[in-house]
Amino acid sequence: MTALAIANAAYVAAALLFIMSLAGLSKHETGRTGIRYGIAGMTIAMSATIWLTFSGEWNESTSTGFVLLLVALGAGAVIGLWRAKVVAMTGMPELIALFHSFVGLTAVLVGWNGALHSGDLSPDLVGVHRAEVFIGIFIGAVTFTGSIVAYLKLSAKMSSKPLILPGRNLLNLSALIGFVGLTVAYVITPEMGFLIAVTILALALGWHLVASIGGGDMPVVVSMLNSYSGWAAAATGFLLSNDLLIVTGALVGSSGAYLSYIMCRAMNRSFISVIFGGYGIEAPTESDEETGEHTEIDAAQVAEMLSAAKSVVITPGYGMAVAQAQYPVAELAKRLKEKGVEVRFGIHPVAGRLPGHMNVLLAEAKVPYDIVLEMDEINDDLAGTNVVLVIGANDTVNPAATENPGSPIAGMPVLRVWEAENVIVFKRSMASGYAGVANPLFYKPNAKMLFGDAKDKVGDILKAL
Ligand code: TAP
Repeated sequence: MTALAIANAAYVAAALLFIMSLAGLSKHETGRTGIRYGIAGMTIAMSATIWLTFSGEWNESTSTGFVLLLVALGAGAVIGLWRAKVVAMTGMPELIALFHSFVGLTAVLVGWNGALHSGDLSPDLVGVHRAEVFIGIFIGAVTFTGSIVAYLKLSAKMSSKPLILPGRNLLNLSALIGFVGLTVAYVITPEMGFLIAVTILALALGWHLVASIGGGDMPVVVSMLNSYSGWAAAATGFLLSNDLLIVTGALVGSSGAYLSYIMCRAMNRSFISVIFGGYGIEAPTESDEETGEHTEIDAAQVAEMLSAAKSVVITPGYGMAVAQAQYPVAELAKRLKEKGVEVRFGIHPVAGRLPGHMNVLLAEAKVPYDIVLEMDEINDDLAGTNVVLVIGANDTVNPAATENPGSPIAGMPVLRVWEAENVIVFKRSMASGYAGVANPLFYKPNAKMLFGDAKDKVGDILKAL
């Protein structure tokens, strides 16, 4: 058996493990097993690739290559392990966005390398190769700058407000037409100028596409960039003639696209509009001024209210993650249950900063899965609930989404917590949430504000109970 045949057999095994990993990750209960399949698949894939690269005859250049590879692997592993260890759960989306930018940059570099060292290709394949180079560079560069903007927006280093340039849809369309024109030109005459032009064009397009998207839609953008990074990897696979990279890239690309579609549906956003950098989204007309008076409450009064309640729903958000309040929250749910109160959790699909963020935190604190319900499962029950505890959530419980068509989050389905008899909002100030939108919930007559760090306040309630 040739070295290539053995490596290909290993690639098939790795591809199967990746598919099993994705299947495992689709449920909480099987998530860990899914991760293990992924690690096993990646180990096989990397070992087979390294072995295949160096299975030829040893000479000076391959041994230098081997040393370079070890250095790169070592440096990457150290940085990766260090970042993954120190990153807070709330900083995960930024880290993921940054990782996507590396995939994009790699695709650009591989594309340039493919253009500069095309090797001996048969005349029939030259045109295909040039088109592959262009597609790889284009997707890679869009992913690279798009991910950097996503990183800057998610880490609040750049405003999360959408950049609304005049004629922005026309700009995006012109960039796409420009890409097609440059590709055709390059296939006919491989001029270096075309290569430089397509790289600059794609870098600018990636930047503009993500900059045009507002804070509320960022979760979809991150998963969209995940998908782009998959297609960039697949394009790299074509250039390097590596089947596993093509299969893996396609898996990442299609699962990322499907996740984005599910998230768009959950948030009532148009998939097409998000892919095309906010196409069709009007500039929000809402002013940030808020009217009305809010009412405060203290922990002892909340404990009293909870003791008298028959049904309680807890809707956690990003603030619960910041405060790391999931443990006292789980304890509170347990205590109330022991007192005979019906306690359930209502989870918004984009609560927190990454898909499933709240579910992961609650699972970590051992909250039973059967009392953790999705937004659609709990929304109709909220009107019959005695007390809703909004713990560090803001945009996901904002009535402006349903009541104010001029709001930047108009049309996004939200947890209708204001329909309950009493709503207690745990937060530290009257500040707005991630989307930067004022929240009229705080001024509703049945809503009371419990100011302070969520973990401390839930602790105080536990003491008072
Ligand atoms: P947000 O709207 O972000 O609001 C979180 C609230 O938590 C803030 O208003 C903040 O108010 C409060 N808070 C922060 N630290 C706290 C602490 N230590 N104790 C108590 N409260 C604290 O949260 P959300 O309702 O979960 O909505 C998520 C938002 O993020 C959405 O706009 C969503 O589109 C976006 N987003 C989601 C994702 C995914 S995939 N989930 C990814 C990126 C962006 P104070 O400062 O006054 O305390």
